[in-house]
Amino acid sequence: MSTSTAVETNPAETKTAEIALTINGQVQHFDLDPRTSLLDALREHLHLTGTKKGCDHGQCGACTVLVNGRRINSCLTLAVMHEDDDIVTIEGLGQPGAPHPLQAAFIEHDGFQRGYCTSGQICSAIGMLAEAKAGWPSHVTADVASPEIALTDEEIRERMSGNICRCAAYPNIVAAIRDLAEGARQ
Ligand code: FES
Repeated sequence: MSTSTAVETNPAETKTAEIALTINGQVQHFDLDPRTSLLDALREHLHLTGTKKGCDHGQCGACTVLVNGRRINSCLTLAVMHEDDDIVTIEGLGQPGAPHPLQAAFIEHDGFQRGYCTSGQICSAIGMLAEAKAGWPSHVTADVASPEIALTDEEIRERMSGNICRCAAYPNIVAAIRDLAEGARQ
């Protein structure tokens, strides 16, 4: 005799959550399933499709956004967890005609081909530069006690290793980030 205890759920009975998130400096109101990831809230509810869904389980970095200045994979966190946070997506960094310096560097160095990973690369790089500036060592930092982190190409590659580029535009991506790291555009 079967002893299965599986419970069937009726999607129509799913309770939603009313939340307000601050995204790119604007308060946005949502009424969504509390299981909704931040990535899906951005893309499906707010139609901010600059943030990409690659793997949807934390392996590619295409969904990277900045939360309180730190880079996170938006596919791995729930939207309801971020009511008190300051969320920045690629749409909040620059605009056509007024790109963020790193966006301009990506264009100058041809840091993309297909472009699907680019939003995540740029958001991740901005978070990464702040981490290095704060003195956070990486796996390849020679002197972890040093408050000064020299952003060598090896450091940049290691720190950006969570962002995968299927087109393998890595040398150009590193060049664009190095450009900004060296202050050439600041
Ligand atoms: Fe989030 Fe790939 S879509 S890490």
